[in-house]
Amino acid sequence: MSTSKTKDKYQIAVVPGDGIGKEVMQAAISVLNELDIEFDYVYGDAGDECLEKTGTALPKETLEIIKNADACLFGAAGETAADVIVKIRQEMKMFANLRPVKSYPNTNALFENIDFMIVRENTEGLYIADQEKMTDDGAIAKRIITREAEERIIDYAFNYAKENNKGKVTAVHKANVLKKSDGLFKEIFYEVAERYPEIDTEDYYVDATAMYLITQPQTFEVIVTTNLFGDILSDEGAGLVGGLGLIPSANIGENAALFESVHGSAPDIAGQGIANPIAMMLSAIMMLRYIGENEAADKFDAAILKVLEEAKTLTKDLGGSASTMEVTEAIKNNL
Ligand code: NAI
Ligand code: MG
Repeated sequence: MSTSKTKDKYQIAVVPGDGIGKEVMQAAISVLNELDIEFDYVYGDAGDECLEKTGTALPKETLEIIKNADACLFGAAGETAADVIVKIRQEMKMFANLRPVKSYPNTNALFENIDFMIVRENTEGLYIADQEKMTDDGAIAKRIITREAEERIIDYAFNYAKENNKGKVTAVHKANVLKKSDGLFKEIFYEVAERYPEIDTEDYYVDATAMYLITQPQTFEVIVTTNLFGDILSDEGAGLVGGLGLIPSANIGENAALFESVHGSAPDIAGQGIANPIAMMLSAIMMLRYIGENEAADKFDAAILKVLEEAKTLTKDLGGSASTMEVTEAIKNNL
């Protein structure tokens, strides 16, 4: 992620999607509008409602809007999520999936002082479309590890650590069993590490990591891993810090970046105005850091922290009774 302000005005693709996606997007944008940064929002349609209206869940125009923007904010899709978000990631070659795991006060976080970033390879590993095949007596899935993609993600993780004052990067793999593919991943990790002598390194097996995330989560700073392991560990991370209403994420490519809450369209609470907007707001903060607006990001982050610390204006998922917009107003008042 870049560290200094890059432009005077930013073009942001906004794809609210379905259900609470629309509600939390409106909330996040209303805070962005208080930050004294010029944003030019270009709205794109996608998701279940879009499919019903237009016959496609992800219109070409929406992809174009995302392509032409400095960054994209994405709310949530419903049943069409796979056709929308997975397709956007592929089309835009968003190779890095970033999931911060951070404990905030007055949440269901299991521990205090957790603050690490999971950097997950997003294009290969076990998750390649059409690589699964039925055989005579079962099925086979292929796991692909290329030097190019793994070096790119590992370098991204080290660079992230460097730019964000993190002192250590942990590689997670299973090289004792997957000797060739994860053997290569581990080898590349230590090659790339030589370019970052100021950053400490360690590597763990994925099964051990699953345990360490529970027994010593505060010791992690940046985790870099392959696609499937990253998928599983990042949900474990979400469980550690308690609740979908608080978990943001980023998908980063060479020329495109998309920031989304991890939760879906939540049909059970959609339309009631009670969704927690903080996951979407934290995603917007990741976007601010990506475009180099770090000061605004810090300010926004501090305002959210204050509202959580005070614990007076919280949505139902955090044990409160405030509405989406009441939480949003409280955050704005703390800017
Ligand atoms: P979900 O994340 O929408 O909801 C799971 C539970 O968490 C629900 O009880 C919901 O009310 C609660 N929840 C989620 N976000 C919340 C928030 N911000 N504030 C308060 N409570 C919140 O996942 P679910 O129910 O499995 O899927 C619902 C729909 O969303 C499905 O159609 C699914 O395909 C889609 N989905 C889309 C995703 C995306 O667009 N990236 C990701 C996950 C699911
Ligand atoms: Mg997942």
